[in-house]
Amino acid sequence: MTTILFLIIAYLLGSIPSGLWIGKYFFHKNLRDFGSGNTGSTNTFRVLGKKAGIAVFAIDMLKGTIATALPIMFGLHTFSPALFGLCAIFGHTFSIFDHFHGGKGVATSLGMILGYNPKFMIFVVIIFLVMVYLTSMVSMSSIVSGIIAFLATLIFPALHFIFTNYDWLFTFVILFITCFIICKHRDNIARIRNKTENIFNFGLNITH
Ligand code: G3P
Repeated sequence: MTTILFLIIAYLLGSIPSGLWIGKYFFHKNLRDFGSGNTGSTNTFRVLGKKAGIAVFAIDMLKGTIATALPIMFGLHTFSPALFGLCAIFGHTFSIFDHFHGGKGVATSLGMILGYNPKFMIFVVIIFLVMVYLTSMVSMSSIVSGIIAFLATLIFPALHFIFTNYDWLFTFVILFITCFIICKHRDNIARIRNKTENIFNFGLNITH
């Protein structure tokens, strides 16, 4: 019963459509009508600027972290905490407050990883930043980071590197969210192939 309650809390937490609400209530703009049309932090940066982008990123990430860490804090040890984070990711992409639409799940996935294992999150962030530096594409960096994170969960536990709290369900959750993120980036992948994907540079000057 408690497990189901925490899964529902995780979904509701993930459902908070931060980008949509910040755009609507603070900037009177619907993110869906601008930029990539996505409601995540990348498009918030692009459309509403740096401060709003950072705020949306922080909120979206925290949703995954809190959903994952809350059951642990309450001493719930039914199965992998990553599954609660997964519920938050579902909430983020199929939000009950946004007609079951939402973002692409990248920031919330990172938040889930932070709640599960902060050291592993640092590893994933380093991969992501290196990819942004090399490609200037957030979408490509998100996809590649997911794939490398999955491969790392196959190798690191055996090497006793980073993981002290590893459980095999985590690998399945990472595999699942990586496939999920790839599906959610279908439009980005088409743009990458056409060489029309949005370019992100560290000056936050993002062009189409
Ligand atoms: O997290 C989403 C990012 O990978 C791509 O966002 O707005 O360029 O589609 P966007």
